[in-house]
Amino acid sequence: MIQILRTIAALRAWRNGLPPDVRLGLVPTMGALHAGHMSLVDLAKARCDTVIASIFVNPLQFGPQEDLARYPRPIESDIAMLEAAGVDALFLPQPEDLYPADASTYVVEEAVSLPLCGALRPGHFRGVATVVLKLFNLTQPHLAFFGQKDAQQCAVIERMVRDLNVPTEIVRGAIVREPDGLALSSRNAYLDASHRAVAPLLHQSLVAARLAYEAGERDAARLAAIGRAVLAREPRIEVQYWEVRDRYSLAPLETVEADGCLLAVAAILGNTRLIDNLCLGTGTPGGLRFANER
Ligand code: PAF
Repeated sequence: MIQILRTIAALRAWRNGLPPDVRLGLVPTMGALHAGHMSLVDLAKARCDTVIASIFVNPLQFGPQEDLARYPRPIESDIAMLEAAGVDALFLPQPEDLYPADASTYVVEEAVSLPLCGALRPGHFRGVATVVLKLFNLTQPHLAFFGQKDAQQCAVIERMVRDLNVPTEIVRGAIVREPDGLALSSRNAYLDASHRAVAPLLHQSLVAARLAYEAGERDAARLAAIGRAVLAREPRIEVQYWEVRDRYSLAPLETVEADGCLLAVAAILGNTRLIDNLCLGTGTPGGLRFANER
């Protein structure tokens, strides 16, 4: 039976009650769980003795014009999914538990959080890094699991963990896709039928660039142009960025070298913002292949 921990005191008591040699895995989420989240749970179950998930729609990572109020919160079905998957505990705090009214301490990563989504969503990664460090401090996990769909979020958290000597291993889970290629996201629920029909073009644009790469193209601008051209055919898709970046630093690239790159796209479809990405190259540990990739 999953234990639901609604307060910091309950979480601390649960954590203190675990045997000292237990290997604890944390799957932090904002709920509205889908197969992408559940693949992280499966990964955590395979790598850890005990698994805790968290569901917290973190107000600090939403901008004033963003979708905090309408973010889906199907809490009963989320709990049922976690329970069915064999998760041991769920941390389910309220905003006032995690953020005292006069909170004045935040985590700000100052390099990998700046481009791409960081440039378009000011304060977003400050909110993510702050809540993730708080969740790490509270749960003290040995491993924590994040989806590669949010590649920049993974990079920010990995940098934070390295820079602040956090004793938690970050594991990236591969992107889970619909049969037509659309990356699973809680925000896909916002898409109306017409935008849902064209949403797989994001993935197709990444695949077009990958095919060019596999045919020998190494010029980053030309790869990006190939990806952008796929989306340019569809007026319902407003591209925010389509970039070729270093997978770790997220620095822009002119040429894709042997260690590969990240292709990253963000676009608005109607009133929904979607992101997707794909890694190219031979890869190095933690890079190309993801923990649950076959
Ligand atoms: O990826 C998410 O769902 C959120 O950004 C996270 C990591 C749970 C922090 O709120």
